[in-house]
Amino acid sequence: MKRRRFTQILSFGAGSMSFLSVAAQETDGSTDEQSQDDDRDDQAVAATGSERVVSASSPQPVKVEDYIALSQAKLPKATFDYITTGSADEITLRENVAAFRRIKVLPPLLTGVAKADLSTRVLNERISLPVMLAPVAALGMYHPQGALAAASAAASAGTLFAVSSSAGHSVEEIAAAAPGPKWFQLYVPKDRTVARRLVERVERSCYQAIIVTVDLGEWKDADRRNRFSLPKQMLLKHLRDVGHEQLSDKMSYEELSAFNARAWDLSISWNFFDWLRSVTKLPLLVKGVLRKEDALRAVSIGLDGIIVSNHGGRRLDGMPASIDRVSEIAEAVQGRAEVLMDGGIRRGTDVLKAVALGAKAVLIGRPHAWALASDGESGVRRVIELLREEFENAMIATGCARVDEINRSLIQS
Ligand code: FNR
Repeated sequence: MKRRRFTQILSFGAGSMSFLSVAAQETDGSTDEQSQDDDRDDQAVAATGSERVVSASSPQPVKVEDYIALSQAKLPKATFDYITTGSADEITLRENVAAFRRIKVLPPLLTGVAKADLSTRVLNERISLPVMLAPVAALGMYHPQGALAAASAAASAGTLFAVSSSAGHSVEEIAAAAPGPKWFQLYVPKDRTVARRLVERVERSCYQAIIVTVDLGEWKDADRRNRFSLPKQMLLKHLRDVGHEQLSDKMSYEELSAFNARAWDLSISWNFFDWLRSVTKLPLLVKGVLRKEDALRAVSIGLDGIIVSNHGGRRLDGMPASIDRVSEIAEAVQGRAEVLMDGGIRRGTDVLKAVALGAKAVLIGRPHAWALASDGESGVRRVIELLREEFENAMIATGCARVDEINRSLIQS
């Protein structure tokens, strides 16, 4: 048994809280290569809940999870692991997918429905299906076009792109890449002048809403094992894009990482929304809600939307599947704010189940990251199309001609 110590340098804004921490790693007698291969297989299985994934040479993906193997073949191991793995023992990561599979659909027969209109509205924006792209960090590490390709894919698919604070391109670059509707996901810079200017730039660039992600603190074993970090130029661009224009090319990686570690406010509370309301008129959403009480608090302070989410199992491990929290939250909110959800969407039937349980729409994270890595803009477009085809089939099979006809009675209780 050999013991190694290494320095962990994670660099994704407030998304990762464990900057520059030192961790101890224990390994058994196996070689690094062997255990890395074993890890990869385990991760594909954990991500899919099944061993049947497409091989890297398969030509055309027929389901979302086919993009796992395709992206694995294209990406360095550390980057693939960053996307694919979850926190700690990955209980929540697995549960997100497993919970959807436990929920059963009971279709009524002979409804005479042969065609379905998949479109819906979120915060008054019409989208062609209730599936949006979730905010995902570091898209430039998965494909050279990164967030620009994701923006184009979302626009051509007629859906919304929720752009991460750490997406890898500036809000202006992403806005210029494609005309489709966009929301901005905010991690909060400690310096409120930087934060205010960023919000103003988001408004000027015609983003339609701001999501504040509040479930912070990532603890992913794979990222620590792989010493995953953003390359220096990407970290510098990210910090400048946020508004820290004073940073110099001459700074060392350690200096930049130390700056990054201090730059984000990791301790915001509900009154942050008072400040945000004072600087913007854009609709506001809170992402990371799992408790009914928090959803009601969001409603009571006038937030426009609630994203039921456990951050795709990347935050505190042991939290329940987000889909298992949707129904109680939607019932409590009673339409006073838009309820959306993410985590574990891999099939069109998952979209139907989420909508039936009370979500207005869902967001996909890993699916669009895997597809981007595999095939750039066309991959992201294709992953949305796969969900569109499957969701349409599910609507017709359950006799729903319109999205607002999908309801709780379709789910076996
Ligand atoms: C994320 N997620 C995320 N969320 C957020 O608010 N800001 C961010 O910067 C990121 N970054 C990020 C990176 C990567 C690689 C992943 C996979 C996810 C979380 C994301 O928005 C969403 O909540 C989950 O990905 C949903 O779960 P699925 O669809 O991945 O199962």
